[in-house]
Amino acid sequence: MLVRGIAYGGDYNPEQWPDSYLQDDIRLMKEAGVSVVTLGVFSWSSFEPEQDRFEFDRLSEVMDALHSAGIGIDLATGTASPPSWLSQQFPSTLPTTADGVRLAWGSRQQYNPNSAVYRERTAALVTALASRFANHPGLVAWHVNNEYGCHVWESFDDESAGRFRAWLANRYDSLDNLNRAWGTEFWSQRITDWDQVIPPRTTPTLHNPHRLDDWRRFCSDSLLELYLIERDILRAANPAVPITTNFMGLFFPVDYWKWAEHLDFVSNDSYPDPADPRAAREFAFDCDLMRSLGKGKPFIQMEQVTSAVQWRNRNAAKRPGQYRLWSIMAVALGADGILNFQWRQSLAGAETFHGAMVPHAGRASRTWTEVVGLGSDLGELSHVQGHTLSNKVAIVWDWENAWAYANAVGPTNEAVPENAARDWHATFFELGLSVDFVHPSQDLTSYAVVIVPSLFRLTVLHARRLHDACASGTHLVVSHLTGYVDERGHATEGGYLAGLRDILGVTVTDYSARAIEPAALGSAEQLAVDVDRISSSVGTPAADTRVDLEWMLTGYSGAARNWAESVRIDKHDVETIARFDTADAQAQVAVTVRRSPGHGSAWYIATELDGRARRSITIAVLGERGIEVDFSLPAGVQRLERGGVAFVLNHGDQTVKVEGTDVPPRGLTLRAAVTREPELAPLEAP
Ligand code: GAL
Repeated sequence: MLVRGIAYGGDYNPEQWPDSYLQDDIRLMKEAGVSVVTLGVFSWSSFEPEQDRFEFDRLSEVMDALHSAGIGIDLATGTASPPSWLSQQFPSTLPTTADGVRLAWGSRQQYNPNSAVYRERTAALVTALASRFANHPGLVAWHVNNEYGCHVWESFDDESAGRFRAWLANRYDSLDNLNRAWGTEFWSQRITDWDQVIPPRTTPTLHNPHRLDDWRRFCSDSLLELYLIERDILRAANPAVPITTNFMGLFFPVDYWKWAEHLDFVSNDSYPDPADPRAAREFAFDCDLMRSLGKGKPFIQMEQVTSAVQWRNRNAAKRPGQYRLWSIMAVALGADGILNFQWRQSLAGAETFHGAMVPHAGRASRTWTEVVGLGSDLGELSHVQGHTLSNKVAIVWDWENAWAYANAVGPTNEAVPENAARDWHATFFELGLSVDFVHPSQDLTSYAVVIVPSLFRLTVLHARRLHDACASGTHLVVSHLTGYVDERGHATEGGYLAGLRDILGVTVTDYSARAIEPAALGSAEQLAVDVDRISSSVGTPAADTRVDLEWMLTGYSGAARNWAESVRIDKHDVETIARFDTADAQAQVAVTVRRSPGHGSAWYIATELDGRARRSITIAVLGERGIEVDFSLPAGVQRLERGGVAFVLNHGDQTVKVEGTDVPPRGLTLRAAVTREPELAPLEAP
């Protein structure tokens, strides 16, 4: 964003109020220290009330007034919520569900990403907007559409089928290649004509997983095409204005790695639930992910809420201090802007009770006091703008892997890669460390430690990157369910872990899922030994969530859950760190490490560790590389550094003393950082 200092503000939708509110809004914005507002996110029906009649005069007045007051404009293109005339005149612009139901107008984001008419009409609107405003002096960024994929990311109509076919033809060249990739000899699914390729509409039972993987890729790419259409128009109109679209954290349907390279800066929307004690952790996850998607460059927190949202069943408000605390945490983790949805709380519509910077009560509210307070804090942090973080630890995250697991139909039908990534991130968050996320095909050699949580789909390139990293000294921690399928989602033969077997020195030969509810056959009455002579004597370890571990060394503790693999040790220098202490896997290897001279160590974890066990291993691995964890910090306290500032953030409910200063509950202190760039421990000589 073309803004000096840490940007502060929110979505501003002045069309909802009488024109006379504008001057009052600007006065309040100045009082709060607002430097940027996002205009026009859902304004298509006022920008273009009927086809090709563009009305921008009011927008122009608002932009001029904001600019004269020194407030920058992040101008949205308004294409996320098509007006009623579009669907009335062109029903093909509406999305169709897998059951063939065409979704109706009357909410928002009701567009079919594959509709040619939708694409033409968005291009027309964006061209008109750009030709009028691309050189406006108040324009600090373009905000393309809004939260691509939110609510609707796919459509199953015939037009979408046509685009899917073209996309597949481009990927596979021939039907033979497609048939091989999709494994269509199974269940008689061989395709003999491109016209037989259709979207994965509702079927009697399970879908072909490889087709679903391609459908996911296609849908993400198709949405990306929409973004690029708009981006190219805006870029041509004025190359100096940066362009973004707002992401949504670990949003499943869109591969943000692929998208991020087309954004001038990454921006994100986060709404963690203040009723959950893990909310700050979740927010930190999003911040670490966004900074990483932008290759370490600062990101903009494009949306969050000052108090409570309205869309949960119970909408907890942020506690006193949390709005400031979490916002400053985002800055410490790389945000160069803190924006909210929205500036003024709506008077009507579906978001009337969503929090805002100016609540219904106006200045007479705690929210307003906190909004003004944060504006002044951010003003004092302006020198942090542009500064990056340098993290030594990374966690592998790959959307295609998560899709492959979700579509695979077993081994368990749970969100394993997402949960594993969140769990490992949580371990570092709780230890007070910010970490990067990385794609498994990128160069990983600059990291001291790389965590590979459940990389189910492991490609040849991924394995090579991990090899190279380990050979250059990176410590790898690979967890369960890795290397089960290849690039196409086809099973790995000869033992799982595939191309990682030689660095880890182990092979996974079998697996067993735990914590599966035993199905009740007949009535689920309690079994009694005198009545159910046979069944009552049958044990079911698979029904136990917990999987106990026996640690071979002191300093480790914790258990596991849900999953146990059989591991064969292939290399003599593999050390066993823990064994299973659980039925059916008793004494089998659960955690191993291989330390090869001149290489980083390579850990394998054949189960899903609990928090205590993850912490033990993390501390051991960090210790081996000389990365310090500050164990002196009181409970609740996070200490981060960015741009020469040490941020001491107290998430807890008690006043704590840190470095001689009292930090109140949900309070913070800022001080000059004494830089503590880790001195990495040398590797054992080869
Ligand atoms: C986002 C959206 C905003 C607002 C917000 C409410 O999904 O971009 O316009 O609806 O959620 O929390």
